[in-house]
Amino acid sequence: MRFMNLQYVKRFRMELDLRRWRRPRIKLPVDYRLVAWHDSLVQSHADVKYHSFRGEIDSQVFPCLGELDGCERLMHEIQAKDGFLPEATWLAEYAAPGFSRSEYCGTIQAVRTHKGKANIQNIGVLPFHRGRGIGTALILASLLGLHHLGIRYACLEVTVENESAVRLYRQLGFRTARTLYKAVELAHCEMAR
Ligand SMILES: CC(C)(COP(=O)(O)OP(=O)(O)OC[C@H]1O[C@@H](n2cnc3c(N)ncnc32)[C@H](O)[C@@H]1OP(=O)(O)O)[C@@H](O)C(=O)NCCC(=O)NCCS
Repeated sequence: MRFMNLQYVKRFRMELDLRRWRRPRIKLPVDYRLVAWHDSLVQSHADVKYHSFRGEIDSQVFPCLGELDGCERLMHEIQAKDGFLPEATWLAEYAAPGFSRSEYCGTIQAVRTHKGKANIQNIGVLPFHRGRGIGTALILASLLGLHHLGIRYACLEVTVENESAVRLYRQLGFRTARTLYKAVELAHCEMAR
């Protein structure tokens, strides 16, 4: 038997004031590069998003992130939004030395929400490529894009349990502006008696 269990997940809304932001230099390990948005990359963003979020806490909070077709739908919706900001939307690409093939390994998007404010969304790095500064580089590239566009506040939401993501955002200067509770339906299976 299957029943739904409603739980509340604690999330932070974090903000970074770009008016007082010192433009950083983006450092990437050799073999990695950042790829700017192009409409032809929508599927690649969806693929990387799916493989980054699969099995992670946010795929329970937002079930669409744990399914490939959910990520595809999400990317098409983001791309179609009025506020979609291609200048702050990036892929990370890895090309191993000596190999002719490369793979996309990180993704980030941004959407303008109000005049002067934008949300950074759905940053994901494939598990194999984590802990090398790729997430940091993607966020900084997105922030540089927002800064260039004259956006004053960069905002994001993060699940508090996602400690490494919260730590990363804090290191980059984001501060908690609000605490939110999101109702999430978690599916449970009860053993037949
Ligand atoms: C959150 C996420 C995007 C971070 O990506 P990442 O590429 O691992 O990020 P970075 O490598 O820049 O930083 C991660 C850690 O590695 C460290 N690091 C960065 N560059 C490093 C380097 N060259 N050598 C060693 N460590 C490094 C960072 O200081 C950070 O350390 P910390 O966890 O102690 O704070 C990634 O874990 C992820 O995709 N998670 C699943 C999806 C998700 O939850 N996204 C966030 C939604 S809000």
